[in-house]
Amino acid sequence: MEQTKWYKDRVFYQIWPRSFRDGNGDGIGDLWGVYEKLDYLKELGVDGVWFSPLYPSPGVDCGYDISDYMDIAPEYGGMEAFRAVLDGLHRRGMKLVMDLVVNHTSDANEWFRKSRRRIEPYTDYYIWRPAKPNGKRPNNWDSHFEGKAWQWDDLRQEYYLHLFAVRQPDLNMDNPLVREEVKKILKFWLDLGVDGFREDVITFISKKEGLPDDYLFPVFKGIRFYNHGPHIHEYLQEFRRDVLENYDCVTIAEAPLVTPQRALDYIDEYGSHEIDMMIQFQCMCADCLFSDYMPLSFSLRKLRRAFSSWQKRMDGRAWNMLYLENHDHPRVISRYGSEKYRVESGKMLAASYLFLKGTPFIYQGQEIGMTNWYPDKTEMYEDVQTLNQKQNWPEKKRLKLYHRASRDSARTPMQWTAGENAGFTTGTPWFHVNENYRQINVEAELTDPDSVLNFYKKAIALRKSLPVVRDGRYREYYRNSGKLYVYSRETETQKLLIICSFTDRPVRFRPPKGYSLAQMKLLLTNYDDRLDGNGFVTRPYETRVYLYE
Ligand code: GLC
Ligand code: CA
Repeated sequence: MEQTKWYKDRVFYQIWPRSFRDGNGDGIGDLWGVYEKLDYLKELGVDGVWFSPLYPSPGVDCGYDISDYMDIAPEYGGMEAFRAVLDGLHRRGMKLVMDLVVNHTSDANEWFRKSRRRIEPYTDYYIWRPAKPNGKRPNNWDSHFEGKAWQWDDLRQEYYLHLFAVRQPDLNMDNPLVREEVKKILKFWLDLGVDGFREDVITFISKKEGLPDDYLFPVFKGIRFYNHGPHIHEYLQEFRRDVLENYDCVTIAEAPLVTPQRALDYIDEYGSHEIDMMIQFQCMCADCLFSDYMPLSFSLRKLRRAFSSWQKRMDGRAWNMLYLENHDHPRVISRYGSEKYRVESGKMLAASYLFLKGTPFIYQGQEIGMTNWYPDKTEMYEDVQTLNQKQNWPEKKRLKLYHRASRDSARTPMQWTAGENAGFTTGTPWFHVNENYRQINVEAELTDPDSVLNFYKKAIALRKSLPVVRDGRYREYYRNSGKLYVYSRETETQKLLIICSFTDRPVRFRPPKGYSLAQMKLLLTNYDDRLDGNGFVTRPYETRVYLYE
């Protein structure tokens, strides 16, 4: 089937359903709530939605532990509410992308329940291994969430592999029956009318034969044996050939630790093209080493390198997925911007990535400039990943790390109004509401022309009206600056120059060669217009977007 690449013209919005909007008053976000907000999304200007998992799940990892792949959780409204939302989105010209989580399932999945009992054909659906002669685990791999990657099962009298939480057993993708199940799932949702998939840790699905011990890395032990594993391309090609190719759909692969070079093995439009876009993590590592839990101070040079290398390497060959926030990371203003200059830095961060080449994703709450959550005690956290970090550290030190790194900061309820529970629910919210909701909420931002929300709206509208944002060549300037990020997008007929200050300190800006500010039109900025010559001194977190045509 002809693939139209419609995704190249879209701006996506990610909904993490549990915290978006509660429609029935039970305190849990749901699809009835989403339905109420479809016009809000339409007015924001986004035209695609990626839903974090909506399937039935015990909720050990907030839905990323799936017990039934062909249904919608009753607390989210079941199939009926899902159909209404799908239809509502399509009627508004918006696309819907599902989360596909097939590296692992929930231990409550029927497949796992039968596999434990060796009921055919499920016996080899998971990665089971006997204990070593001394009773030890089959190898020394770490899980990402809960200790070592193996769990003993009394019923089956074997260990099973779990790269994430204990209750998230890894599927055995080498079993052709498992791959058939994956294809059935893809087909089921595509036939229902969804427009694509965001594929959870999909680069982990093929594990090296023999599952060898890892003596190289001190952290993430084992990852080199399952990230981009031996059969990964074979399996992705199979999914594409047997199912995806028959639909006009998009695939977005989550790929921890992926480099631009490696990404091309998956997304090269003139070669591999197994996947349309990749979620890389380099843009999330400007203030840490590999993971949010290894914090470092923020480095604009690192961020620029992440943006620029992907822009350059993908150019003309593959398509970028652009983001600064999702449900797995704390809020970007609190990381790369400034809570003190929340509005200014929130807008500047928007401009820093919304004019890059690729398809941007905006995470719920990002568009109103939500910031991190700072609870008083570690026990107030909910997330399984967070709670397993540094359990032996003293409370104070641990709390400080969680404040900085926990993804629960992105999971507090969406702030709709200054009213009770931030307008998220009429009941008791399932999770804490960030106390700053009286200042930061949709209602207030809608009425304030200078709000972060209205900046996002303008930036999205601009993006859509200017072909140069879709097609233009990317160039970076001020390449060694630790304070300014300056880039341009250029076609034969249009030039766009984007200036972003990542500091509250004044910095003198002069346009790069070939650009004269006087000849350009200032399209977007986070400060009042000001007359200056062919250069200016930046105000805190100032951003400007100029057009020349
Ligand atoms: C992905 C998801 C994350 C989840 C993990 C395990 O990284 O984005 O939320 O916890 O996979 O499924
Ligand atoms: Ca609800």
